[in-house]
Amino acid sequence: MSTSPRKKVTVPGLASMKRTGDKIAMITAYDATFAAIVDAAGVDVILVGDSVATTVQGEANTIPVTMEEMEYHVRLVRRANPAALVVGDLPFGSYQVGSSQAVTNSVRLIKAGAQAVKLEGGTTVADSIRAIADADIPVMGHIGLTPQSVHRMGGHKVQGREDGYEAGGRQRLLEDAHAVEQAGAFAVVLEGIPSHLAAEITTKLSIPTIGIGAGPQCDGQVLVIHDVLGLSEREFTFTKKFTDLRSASIAACTEYVTEVRTGSWPDAAHSFD
Ligand code: KIV
Repeated sequence: MSTSPRKKVTVPGLASMKRTGDKIAMITAYDATFAAIVDAAGVDVILVGDSVATTVQGEANTIPVTMEEMEYHVRLVRRANPAALVVGDLPFGSYQVGSSQAVTNSVRLIKAGAQAVKLEGGTTVADSIRAIADADIPVMGHIGLTPQSVHRMGGHKVQGREDGYEAGGRQRLLEDAHAVEQAGAFAVVLEGIPSHLAAEITTKLSIPTIGIGAGPQCDGQVLVIHDVLGLSEREFTFTKKFTDLRSASIAACTEYVTEVRTGSWPDAAHSFD
């Protein structure tokens, strides 16, 4: 049961937002504290992203995070009982072997508390998307700059700038978008592609597109919570610090250290007789 006063966000609800033109706000969270904060802010979708590898675990990319770790973070987020839809990310290695592995691991994330799953790729993962959807698990696609393909892409590079049908080519991305929709995905993340291509895909698909580094014309937007709050040191063109909690946190902790060292903490008001 949701503890939020908001109406529960559902998969059909997101489909109707596309029809009515209401923008979808999605953000990542990896634990109950941040899930409660973003839910209170009114987000529609909480993504328990494999970006937990870089934001929380200190990894250089998303490759190392495991299924067990994703299950753990999904469980923490669901404990906040958010009204937002909780989407669990399938980590690298949890679906690349084939459809049966993809369904098995999607079931694990749903049992941990996810209400939908997300996986990266287009035409090459269409069979897995279909199999997951056939298991009655809502599945979100993710095409364009897919961070789990970092080694193929040669870095985290904007995709779809060049014509072509090879992975990352403009025509291939259009094919990927259609393949994901045809396979039964209920929404698709468009990451790191030119705005005009994202706009074209958004017009052509009947499922919502959720952009990150894909311009303003997607049906919704997603950002990583650490970037929004200014908690991470990283800064990219496609992210924005809506506040600077890193500086505020360092300032607060510095004051604490000073007060401990000078003996002014704890004072009488915070001590017991
Ligand atoms: O893991 C993640 O945070 C993501 C978003 C950037 C879409 O996949």
